[in-house]
Amino acid sequence: MSRIKIKKIKIWMPSAEVAPFAKVGGLGDVAGSLPPALKKLNCDIRLIMPLYGLIDREKYKLKKIYENLEVPSGRCLIKVDIWESFLPGTRVPIYFIDAPEYFKFNTVYARGDNSERFLFFSFASLYILPIIGFNPDVVHCQDSHTAMIPDILKNTDFEFLRGIKTVFTIHNLNYQGVSEIEVLSTGNLHVNSLKTLSEDAKNGDINYMMQGILNADIVNTVSEKYVQEIMTSTYGAGLDKEVRKRKKDLYGVLNGIDVDFFDPAKDKFIFKNYSINSLGQKYKNKLILQKKLGLPQDKDRPLVGLVSRLVWQKGLELITEKLSDLDCQFVFLGTGKHEYEEHLKGLNKKFPRKFSAQIKFDLELAQQIYAGSDMFLMPSRFEPCGLGQMIAMRYGSVPVVRATGGLADTVDSKVGFVFKDISKQELFDSLQEAIDIFCNHPGKWRKMQVAGMKRDFSWKKSAKEYVKLYKKAMKK
Ligand code: GLC
Repeated sequence: MSRIKIKKIKIWMPSAEVAPFAKVGGLGDVAGSLPPALKKLNCDIRLIMPLYGLIDREKYKLKKIYENLEVPSGRCLIKVDIWESFLPGTRVPIYFIDAPEYFKFNTVYARGDNSERFLFFSFASLYILPIIGFNPDVVHCQDSHTAMIPDILKNTDFEFLRGIKTVFTIHNLNYQGVSEIEVLSTGNLHVNSLKTLSEDAKNGDINYMMQGILNADIVNTVSEKYVQEIMTSTYGAGLDKEVRKRKKDLYGVLNGIDVDFFDPAKDKFIFKNYSINSLGQKYKNKLILQKKLGLPQDKDRPLVGLVSRLVWQKGLELITEKLSDLDCQFVFLGTGKHEYEEHLKGLNKKFPRKFSAQIKFDLELAQQIYAGSDMFLMPSRFEPCGLGQMIAMRYGSVPVVRATGGLADTVDSKVGFVFKDISKQELFDSLQEAIDIFCNHPGKWRKMQVAGMKRDFSWKKSAKEYVKLYKKAMKK
C-alpha cells in the first residue's frame, strides 16, 4: 500500500520574547508554549529571538553555529553571530541573533526607542534563513516588534524570500511601535517602498502595528471577544479603521497555557501539591503563603491574589482603600509603572494585615499565589486574552474579572465572578459576593473550583486553529 506523504507546514516564528529564555509578559508565555503544540500537529516550527544579555547561554545550552555574518542593514553592514538551541524539554529549534550593539543589555526592552532594534531583528530573522537552510511557508509574526516583516517580504529583492506568506498575531493593540521615518532604512525600506508606508508617513511617523495589520496575509488576535472590541473606537487604540479594513482576514484564536508547567499536582514551587481529588489540601498553601507574606494566618479568611504587570491596562485604579472593608486579604505581585507600584505599596503600609504588595518579578511566588489564593483578581480595562485567569482556574483559585476580551471568553458564572463596567462599586460587589459564597456556601464554592479546574486550557484546540490560519495564508 502506498502511503501518501503529507507535506509538513514550515513555520518561522520570530518573537521579541520567548519563555523561559526571556519574557516580560504573556507574549513570552505564548511564544514558548504554542510551538510544542504545533510540533505535535506535524508542523516544522522554528523560533528565533534576539540574544539579549540576560539570556543564560550555559543553562539553556546555546551553541554558536555561525560567526560574523554581515547583515546589510540600511547603508551599513552589521556583523552578527547566530546561536541555536531547543525550547527546553522539546525538539523545537530556536535560533538567536547575537548583535551586541542592539541586544547586549540585560533587559528585553530598552529605555526609550526600540523601533530600530526590532526592525533590525525582523530583517535579520529573514536574512539568515538561507544560512540555516530553512525555507518557511509562513512567517508567524508576533506583536509590533515583528510587525514590519510583511512589509519587508512584500518589498524584498531576495529570491529566497519570494512567496513566503505571513500571519500576524496581535497580543496587545496598544503597544504599536511608533517610529521615526528614518528608521525604515534599517529594514531596507523607504517611504516609497509600499503604498501603506507612504500613507502612514504622512503624519510624520511610521506605525509598525498598523503596517502589520495592513500587510500580513492573515491577522489574528488572541480571543474572539477582543477581535470584536478592536473594531470599535473604544478599544481600537486609533487603529480600528485599519482593523475593520482587514475584517475578512481577521480571526480570534484563544491562547492556551502550558498545562504541564501549570499543574498543581506537579508544581515544584508550591508548598503542597494537590489535584481535584485532593482539593482539601489546597489551604495548606494558603497558610504558608500568609506566613511568608506577613499576613495573619487564617484558613477561613479568603485570600485574593493578583499577579500582573502594573500598567494602565490592568484597571488597578479600581483597587482602593475601600476594599479594606471586605473581610478578606489581598496579595499583589508585579512590577510596572511607578505610580501603581506606589499605590499598592501605600495600601500595604496602611493596612498591613489586609494587603501585601510584592513589587517584584518572581515566578516562584507567582505560582505560590495561584496555589495559595482562593480568588484571583483581574479588573482589566481591556485584556486581549489574559493568561492569569486560566492559570488561576487550573489551581482552583476562582477568578473575579471584568468582562472584557479573553476574560469575557473564559470566565462565566459557573467558574467565577464577572463584572461589567470599569467601576469600583462593581468590583467591590463582585468580591463581596465571592466572599459570601466562600464563607457561607462551601459546597457551591467547591463546585466552582472544580468546574474551573476541569476546563481545558491546553493548546490542543488553539494550535489546530493556527494550522488552519497557516493554510489560509498559504492560499493567498
Ligand atoms: C498581552 C495581553 C494579554 C495576552 C498576552 C498573550 O500580554 O495583554 O491579554 O494574554 O499578550 O497573548
